Amino acid sequence: TLFEQLGGEAAVTAVTAQFYANIQADATVSNFFNGINMADQTNKTASFLCAALGGPKAWGGRNLKEVHANMGVTNAQFTTVIGHLRSALTSAGVAADLVEQTVAVAETVRGDVVTA
Ligand code: HEM
Repeated sequence: TLFEQLGGEAAVTAVTAQFYANIQADATVSNFFNGINMADQTNKTASFLCAALGGPKAWGGRNLKEVHANMGVTNAQFTTVIGHLRSALTSAGVAADLVEQTVAVAETVRGDVVTA
């Protein structure tokens, strides 16, 4: 599975932490996370991604369409955020083909997150 190829839960969690660090350093998308506990956010999104990448634990959290409703995320903002995931994977030393396969999994939630 992609989960195994990336190195399992610890590797996915480390990439997710870097993903949110990149987002928080980008003023075009950082404001969405004002007041959000980023340690919790990192753990939740890492858990979601682990499941989506074929990991052994099912996602036990909230429905992503309900979670992101009314945030007003645009397609362009989502694309920016995907770029931050791509950078996090690349800077962790993940091979380019595995980066793109992982990004493709994250892209599957675009329709749940984009509402504007
Ligand atoms: C939760 C914003 C993309 C997965 C949240 C929350 C915010 C947010 C603000 C916290 C909601 C709350 O606690 O009240 C955004 C923005 C995105 C984006 C602005 C893109 C522009 C994504 C993507 C994924 C994702 C690509 C998955 C790959 C999650 C998960 C939660 C969450 C798993 C927590 C759900 C739960 O509480 O059970 N998002 N998100 N988000 N987001 Fe996103």
